[in-house]
Amino acid sequence: MRILSGIQPTGDKHLGNYSGGFRQYAATQERGEAFFCVVDLHSITAAYEPEALRRSTLNLAAMLFATGLDPARSTVFVQSHVKAHAEAAWLLSAVASFGQLGRMTQFKDKGDGKDFVPAGLFTYPVLMAGDILLYQADIVPIGDDQRQHLELARDIAQSFNSRFGETFKVPEGVYPTVGARIMDLQEPTRKMSTTSGTTQGTVRLVDEPDAVRKKFKTAVTDSGREIRRGDDKPGITNLIDILSIATGATPEQIEARYADGAGYGQFKADVGEAVVALLTPIRERYLELRADEGELKRLLRAGAEQAAATVEPTIRAVYDRMGFVAP
Ligand code: TYM
Repeated sequence: MRILSGIQPTGDKHLGNYSGGFRQYAATQERGEAFFCVVDLHSITAAYEPEALRRSTLNLAAMLFATGLDPARSTVFVQSHVKAHAEAAWLLSAVASFGQLGRMTQFKDKGDGKDFVPAGLFTYPVLMAGDILLYQADIVPIGDDQRQHLELARDIAQSFNSRFGETFKVPEGVYPTVGARIMDLQEPTRKMSTTSGTTQGTVRLVDEPDAVRKKFKTAVTDSGREIRRGDDKPGITNLIDILSIATGATPEQIEARYADGAGYGQFKADVGEAVVALLTPIRERYLELRADEGELKRLLRAGAEQAAATVEPTIRAVYDRMGFVAP
């Protein structure tokens, strides 16, 4: 079984990324041959600083290992180190249509109202499809916000296969059953995000314990008093999901535990403490790994070599079937 996922080195990673991304990566690496890539090529599709990109690429690699990826088991690499990713994006743009890309809600959300919308923001899902298809991935662990992009990757694989002959495996998305979409603590009707969420409502994985506690203490709750999930209770539902992720208890167990009338204040404090307990060892490992940049770069070079060798037969087949003359 082949597993592939990618994560962007933009800004600091947060609890939503932990839920839909990191924790699923560490769990799925047990199931087969796993590849995880820091998708730096994706991160130039929004305004950014070159030096910040360099720094956050290494930060994110350290975070991937700190949250449980084992370099002996998983191939962890930087997307731009494996040239086939950029090539695949161009080649697959022949089978992805303008109409398909225009329907992507993330493009509409991120591009809306901006003076300058980079062309890359529009073609971004084709780059992502290439990331996945090059590895002949069976499964792609992601959060709910990437569902539409994954569906597009499947459509692109099918179009390519029917036009040029069977070349790509059609991948399946793997979504968490709880926490596929973690919401902003201040505005629980929108997803947690460092680029579009509120600062106080976004729990960064590198936040100091007291900052984490404060963010939960000030989290927005709902009317009523009961601690239960429901469409009418987006704030409490989100906090129950977060507590479930942090402790491993199911949402039902959590609701039962708080059925005796504990107040929102106590509940929020408990969620904060559970998240501090989850993040403290991660943060410590992260700081240790980040301090040894030489070792980090060595691991990434080895990962890129392994990834490049893995995709070689597929990218070669793509050129060949599309009618390019071999060099
Ligand atoms: P990115 O970098 O925005 O997010 C990384 C992962 O975190 C998940 N995620 C969330 N999950 C739950 N709740 C949230 N609030 C939340 N916010 C983010 C995302 O779903 C994702 O799984 N386009 C992708 C990166 C990418 C990729 C790929 C993923 C590029 N190539 C190939 C899979 C396969 C992105 O921007 O993710």
